[in-house]
Amino acid sequence: VSKTLSVSAINNGTVIDHIPAGQALRIIKLLKFSNYKNCVTIGLNLTSKGLGFKDLIKIEDRFLSAEEANEITLFAPLATINIIKNFEVIKKVTTELPKTISNIITCPNEKCITHSEPVASCFNVEQFAKHVMLICNYCEKRFDRDVYTNL
Ligand code: CTP
Ligand code: ZN
Repeated sequence: VSKTLSVSAINNGTVIDHIPAGQALRIIKLLKFSNYKNCVTIGLNLTSKGLGFKDLIKIEDRFLSAEEANEITLFAPLATINIIKNFEVIKKVTTELPKTISNIITCPNEKCITHSEPVASCFNVEQFAKHVMLICNYCEKRFDRDVYTNL
């Protein structure tokens, strides 16, 4: 029996691996990869030794800023971000959870002032075990990552 990669290797770019199954499409949306002009491959529900199932994203000719890499940890705290050059993994980027997150997430509280005033959203980020929670700076409500309705 020959072993093959379920998604092809890439020549140059970034591989975001070990994304919890179900979170890849949110990361695509978060980092706007669907507007990206080069090749993006997405693997959903791949079998993984450690996680059971995982998602994976490969983006050709694109490298992440430190800020983008940290934003990924909101949805995938244990993701590995690999930089590929000439088909080789030349670096694994270490990430940390951002302390705050602005603009990209809409407050799930419909009564929050951020929906009626022209202000940017802003949340403090807290981690409880493997669970990432966001606390809105305006209404002070606390949300699990699974209720961010816009991502
Ligand atoms: N990869 C790729 N293209 C390459 C090299 C690697 O798409 N030219 C992908 C691999 O398929 C894997 C990820 O990049 O999903 C990391 O590669 P590697 O470090 O070789 O794999 P592992 O040793 O399994 O990494 P880890 O220990 O992080 O699981
Ligand atoms: Zn709010």
